[in-house]
Amino acid sequence: MCGIVGYTGGKQAYPILIDGLKKLEYRGYDSAGVALLQDKGVTVFKKEGKVAKLEAHVGVSDVAAHTGIGHTRWATHGEPCDRNAHPHLSRSGRIAMIHNGIIENYAQLKTELLKEGYVFHSDTDSEVLLNFIEDIQIKNECSLEEAIRIALKRVTGAYVILLIDQAYPDTIIAARKGSPLVIGIGQNEHFLGSDASPMLAYTKEVVYINDYELAIVKPDELILKNLGNEIITPYVQKLDMELAAIEKNGYDHFMLKEIFEQPQTIFDSLRGRMDAHKNQITLSGIDAIADKIMAARRIIIVACGTSWHSALVAEYVIEELCRINVEVEYASEFRYRNPIISSEDVIIAISQSGETADTLVALENAKEQGATIYGLVNVVGSSIARISNAGSYTHAGPEIGVASTKAYTAQLAVLQLIALKIAKLKGTIDDQKFTYFIQQLDAVPEKVQWILDNQVEEIQRIAKKYSDANDVLYLGRGYNFPTALEGALKLKEISYIHAEGYPAAEMKHGPIALVDETLPVIFVATKDSYHEKIVSNIQEIKARKGKIIAIVSEGDNRVEELADDIMVVPSCDEIIAPLLAAIPLQLLAYYIGVERGLDVDQPRNLAKSVTVE
Ligand code: F6R
Repeated sequence: MCGIVGYTGGKQAYPILIDGLKKLEYRGYDSAGVALLQDKGVTVFKKEGKVAKLEAHVGVSDVAAHTGIGHTRWATHGEPCDRNAHPHLSRSGRIAMIHNGIIENYAQLKTELLKEGYVFHSDTDSEVLLNFIEDIQIKNECSLEEAIRIALKRVTGAYVILLIDQAYPDTIIAARKGSPLVIGIGQNEHFLGSDASPMLAYTKEVVYINDYELAIVKPDELILKNLGNEIITPYVQKLDMELAAIEKNGYDHFMLKEIFEQPQTIFDSLRGRMDAHKNQITLSGIDAIADKIMAARRIIIVACGTSWHSALVAEYVIEELCRINVEVEYASEFRYRNPIISSEDVIIAISQSGETADTLVALENAKEQGATIYGLVNVVGSSIARISNAGSYTHAGPEIGVASTKAYTAQLAVLQLIALKIAKLKGTIDDQKFTYFIQQLDAVPEKVQWILDNQVEEIQRIAKKYSDANDVLYLGRGYNFPTALEGALKLKEISYIHAEGYPAAEMKHGPIALVDETLPVIFVATKDSYHEKIVSNIQEIKARKGKIIAIVSEGDNRVEELADDIMVVPSCDEIIAPLLAAIPLQLLAYYIGVERGLDVDQPRNLAKSVTVE
């Protein structure tokens, strides 16, 4: 949430900052702004809305500068408007700051500063922190770096802050706690970003900054310190990412590109991890905590949003294959409700971004109580990856579309591997069944490709037909109950149509009251052990004149006859079905969003990487 960029070096900073902000816009797009360190002092340009609006606002202004910082905002404190946009300027006008995160005790700090006669020009917690820093600097007659250190010891909350000060030419000072910060190392230049995408065109050498670290960044120098002023040696890593991965490559939207990437991303998430001939799954993360898993009294899966849906699928699969108790928790509830956790618990954290604040804090709490943490994340080097005792990456590549698609199916694929691996360890699966599931998983990329090759036109037609709906009900059972939840979430996010996901059998306990001839009801009705039951549920809706759209397995004429419209997926084992059934639902949400003329990559009010609670 909120994207931050910075540059200091020999090049012009402004175009690098603007380009970087566009790459980070998925993290929030309520407003955008840059601050430049110019000969005449610090200059700030900012505007409510997207980066393109900022560019138009800046127009032909003087933007010559070799050092600058930029911000794209997802509003927390204060409405989205020019006044609340970052960067903020300190009272003296000498220092500019951008901030990603939330300063929880800002009200208290603000009261202190108001008493000192400070006047605030925005409603943000960030402007309070900036003036608090400057106030310390003036009173203590210390350096900016020292003032930041003192201030941060009094701050509660999460932050990445970047500051420039006209008294420190060519210098950006940055600090982090709880929000991500990457520094890219170039030739006599440095790049800063919430993730590595803004610097990918210039360098592949990066340093991931840890919590409570402070960086003093100059073109030819990167000094890293902790809040106790001790020097830390930066750990330089090589990025394993190509520029093409963060560009649209001819697709109209990132979301469509990412949907179409899924045969490859699912393949990548499985690659090198399963061997049908040796009847073996290699997941070094599971090996590392095998003793803990064998002794665990239960597995708790903690996640938010779409990742929570993949957790639900995993609950069904792990309980079925491994005969171990699995509980699935919303991280935001789990972290606050004082759950009973012990060293006999293994916690699987699922997160695309690896930065979701609720998930991160839930894990920190559980770790303190002795639980073993297994992280399943997409973003390499992210906070959740780093605090986990062991884990697996999903290898879906960067996901830019705000609504998750390929990261979700990659999570499902790796969770299937985790379930099979644990089943093998625990001896709850025989060799024949194990081989059968490996073969089933092996075939998934090809089957996803089949859906993309054969169903898109029909799904576009269905999207047109139902794009005016006010409400849509999604129903599924068993392994595909979470698919119904995920389908409904995708539609809500992308089209702003109200949608509900339900277990199909629960429908008659309430939601069936919604059904009339105007209500589209989407059934995830692939061939599985619940099939007869879901066919009965379809009949019940049909009897009440609801419009039936069904996802069916190839050759299922029975449901085809009952449904108004169908989307077909290849046959597969029921455990694998959520991986296939997700695809038509993603496409349907996408095409309905496009049909309604909406910004499908950056839906209103949303942001990727929810680093505030
Ligand atoms: C929806 C979506 C969100 C995320 C959620 C958790 O399309 O992407 O619901 O799944 O914000 O994010 P991660 O997975 O990064 O922890």
